[in-house]
Amino acid sequence: MNYAFMKRLSDYSAMAESAIRNLDLSSDKFDALYSPVAYGMQAGGKRLRPTLLLMTADAFGNCPDKAIDPAVGIEMFHNFTLLHDDVMDKSDTRRGRPTVHSKWDENTAILSGDTMLTLATKKIAEVEDAILRPVLDTFNDQALRVYEGQRLDMDFENMTEVDLDSYIEMIKLKTGALLGASAKIGALIGGASLEDAEKMYEFGMMLGMAFQIEDDYLDTFGNADTFGKPIGGDINNNKKTFLLVKAIATAGSNAEALKAAMKMPAGATKVKTVTRIYETMGMPSVSKAEVAAYSSKALAAIKKTSLSDERREAFRKLIDKLINRSK
Ligand code: IPE
Ligand code: IPE
Ligand code: MG
Ligand code: MG
Ligand code: MG
Repeated sequence: MNYAFMKRLSDYSAMAESAIRNLDLSSDKFDALYSPVAYGMQAGGKRLRPTLLLMTADAFGNCPDKAIDPAVGIEMFHNFTLLHDDVMDKSDTRRGRPTVHSKWDENTAILSGDTMLTLATKKIAEVEDAILRPVLDTFNDQALRVYEGQRLDMDFENMTEVDLDSYIEMIKLKTGALLGASAKIGALIGGASLEDAEKMYEFGMMLGMAFQIEDDYLDTFGNADTFGKPIGGDINNNKKTFLLVKAIATAGSNAEALKAAMKMPAGATKVKTVTRIYETMGMPSVSKAEVAAYSSKALAAIKKTSLSDERREAFRKLIDKLINRSK
């Protein structure tokens, strides 16, 4: 099929969704290995990363169809990280349903997660030979960045003070790199120049950082029913979120009260106490401003590419959608 530039975000996410629905993940003999993979993949989710990959391929080359396998691969990789992340974060609910390790067990989350990483890599490799090497390098490099970011995220749980620069480095790695790679791989498939592909990586990275700061905000100030994850998990896990790191950096009596509250035992009282201090300190609007700042950086990266104004518009809409999201 020959696509004219599609532009509508919902066209790309629908395309990804339908390819994911059509994945054959059934296995008689290894049902215990593959059914958690299907459970993870077919539970909805925003499909942000495949949407970004498809729309970038389309913006540069009018060819989202050529990008569909890598788009499914990038979503498979994302879902692999979630299976393992939920074990590390002791999270029992995601997308409003039990996580894989709580529905089955931790060993299942580990091994079905491994399976997803390999299935993802195979899908990513479904590109023309001429771009196979840069696409695989981009994919594998981002994967290492995600693991490095996740390592920092865990290390920070046991530290009382983490500065803003360290937090920024951590979210660049754990979340920015995958969005950067999604956009760059889409650009490579679309036939973009290496220069444009790098600018798209920068776009995805900045978008990913805005996205993670918003995720941190929603983990405290969101609505559990729409967000699909329980509120307060980050507070109870001593996660060094944007809210916490930024609030403590302001110093003063509120920051001291916050440090004391973070030492409380995990539970509803701790979540309530910490949330109240954030509110007193005006952290919701501080956080929104930071999301807006990274969104502007993302927009600036797009403006440096050779894309026409009309084609940039789709990316601007994606930014808007993500910063105003509730899930
Ligand atoms: C969750 O990602 C992990 C983060 C990087 C915050 P998403 O919020 O994209 O999760 P789904 O796929 O839409 O459920
Ligand atoms: C997500 O971080 C980063 C990943 C690599 C999965 P979070 O731990 O904040 O993601 P959620 O909130 O569980 O989706
Ligand atoms: Mg985590
Ligand atoms: Mg988590
Ligand atoms: Mg989170």
